[in-house]
Amino acid sequence: MQKSYKNLAKYYDLCFQQKDYQKEVDFILELVDKYGINKESILDVGCGTGTHLCLLKNHFDNLYGVDLNKEILEIAKTKVPGAHFLNAGMSDFKIKEKFDVITSLYSVFNYNKDVDSATKTLQNFHKHLQEKGVVIIALYNERTTDKKISLHVGKDDDTKVAKIDQFRYIPKDKTVKSEHLVLIKDNEEIDFEVEDDDIYRIFDFDEIESMVKESGFSNSEIYDRFSFDKAANKSKFPVLVLRR
Ligand SMILES: C[S@@+](CC[C@H](N)C(=O)[O-])C[C@H]1O[C@@H](n2cnc3c(N)ncnc32)[C@H](O)[C@@H]1O
Repeated sequence: MQKSYKNLAKYYDLCFQQKDYQKEVDFILELVDKYGINKESILDVGCGTGTHLCLLKNHFDNLYGVDLNKEILEIAKTKVPGAHFLNAGMSDFKIKEKFDVITSLYSVFNYNKDVDSATKTLQNFHKHLQEKGVVIIALYNERTTDKKISLHVGKDDDTKVAKIDQFRYIPKDKTVKSEHLVLIKDNEEIDFEVEDDDIYRIFDFDEIESMVKESGFSNSEIYDRFSFDKAANKSKFPVLVLRR
């Protein structure tokens, strides 16, 4: 997994140029206001190139990003110069402060390979959360990958990229396997990269409920893809919202 994004780091933002990050940030801000949460500090776990933090920087005083991948963090540092970044994993990062808001977006949480590791991650989020804070986790489920193949394209003056992802849900393992091909045209040179396969563990709602309890959270809600619609059971992109 780490290797995958290492190779893609330079092209990551171009690949996801058409992803609606602003919609996700608008939901986060609305949710934070709805629950009356302070907007002093925010931590984004699996922050990637820091796009969410960049869009949130005028709303929070203290911004922090954690990611397992060093190369991708170098890009995040240039995009959000005032923020702090830590190269660490989601289940065992250690930061001295506690945060009003902790986010983990774009299925980062599904890189936990089993219930034990996911529970450890939630416990770690709980440990780093202010008493009145909120955790927002955007998940994959098996419905997310219904369409089997997805295509992301992007371009700037010198470069064009296309990322093709193929997904397969394996019910007996509760995992989604995805294979990636990235086509790159950079300064007239054409290249391609076959990324390492990704394995996402899909957590069903019963598993989520028991992990949430075990991690010490007493309030949990599941919304449908960055809206306040609670059609969680039918959602392709469930968003888990936790409070202490
Ligand atoms: C799909 S990208 C999402 C990046 C960002 N959240 C976004 O929405 O653009 C997944 C990110 O998760 C990071 N990642 C994977 N496993 C991780 C782990 N165990 N702990 C922290 N970050 C991890 C990867 O390095 C990568 O940057």
